[in-house]
Amino acid sequence: MKKSIIKGTGMFVPPNLVTNHDLEKIMDTSDEWIKQRTGIEQRYWIDGVTGSSDLGFEASKIALENAGWKPEDLDFIIFATLSPDIMFPGSGCLLQAKLGLNKTPALDIRQQCTGFLYGLATADAYIKSGLAHKILLVGGEVHSSGLDKSTRGRDVTVIFGDGAAAVCIEGVETKKEAGVLASVLHADGNLAGALMTELPASRLPVRMPPEIPFDDVRYYPVMDGSAIFKKAVRMLPKVINESLEKAKITLEQIDLIIPHQANMRINQALGQFLKLDETKICHNIQKYGNTTAASIPIALHEAMEQGRIGKSGDIVLFTGLGAGLTWGSVIYKFL
Ligand code: UT7
Repeated sequence: MKKSIIKGTGMFVPPNLVTNHDLEKIMDTSDEWIKQRTGIEQRYWIDGVTGSSDLGFEASKIALENAGWKPEDLDFIIFATLSPDIMFPGSGCLLQAKLGLNKTPALDIRQQCTGFLYGLATADAYIKSGLAHKILLVGGEVHSSGLDKSTRGRDVTVIFGDGAAAVCIEGVETKKEAGVLASVLHADGNLAGALMTELPASRLPVRMPPEIPFDDVRYYPVMDGSAIFKKAVRMLPKVINESLEKAKITLEQIDLIIPHQANMRINQALGQFLKLDETKICHNIQKYGNTTAASIPIALHEAMEQGRIGKSGDIVLFTGLGAGLTWGSVIYKFL
């Protein structure tokens, strides 16, 4: 059976850098609060008309070049985002057109912070079943245009950043143990209300009810931050262990853990709980904030560029929890 092998990665963030001090000027917050509670020092927000597919396109060009592929080589595109450019069609189709393609299948994944995990598991299933051979998996988000930038929304708004990353994955025939060793995905829709944006809502007779003003809180993401924090600290070690058991390997064999970058404190707590050496867990939330579906592949791209991971035989574990709720863990071994 073919193995799903990463051939190239790329990332892109928009040029508009927004520091914590910039946020102090528009809402009642402080650099100290943001750093202490989340670890974030800055993030990038779009400036002008830029969709998730635009950021994804820039990241994809780099990933394709690193893989030595042309867009025409692709036989499947997966785009993970909670912030599609428009209501429909999905950002995967928009990206496909930007790549100059006109028949390559394109699938959107709406799994928020675990979009990359669900996307990687899906790519692996497509490759193992023979349905696809060269896949472009993209995580891309434009949060900034949908955030409540008043003090009312400060708990959510200071966290999120815009960005994208792309990974080229090829089905390779090899007897070596390599590729996706195990994927474990979970969801609990009973907790959908813990992190959501309610409007516009297709379930309503009118999606944007005229009696609700456009600055109503329901048009913005709302989050029960402490509930999600506690859930993440409890569920991530469990799902990591599930994936290790499935892959029949131990935590000691993992060279690097790349968790979703939602809050530095969550990931530090995870590291302490697992008794991990600090060098074995990846943090870059300081620079980008939480870029949701893009956060894990951005961290992967950086870790590979820095030479922290990527040698033949290296094993990386991706994990995360977020809106849905959804959570999961995927273990990957470099060929
Ligand atoms: O990727 C999606 C998944 N999301 C997550 O994993 C997020 C998980 N949760 C979190 O990261 C944290 O809960 C937050 C960073 C969102 C909040 O941190 P916290 O330590 O849970 O703070 P809190 O919500 O309990 O708020 C503490 C105080 C409150 O004031 P009072 O009531 O104690 O007077 C808030 O109003 O901090 C206040 N506060 C702020 N102050 C300054 C909330 N946001 C801010 C802010 N600046 N941006």
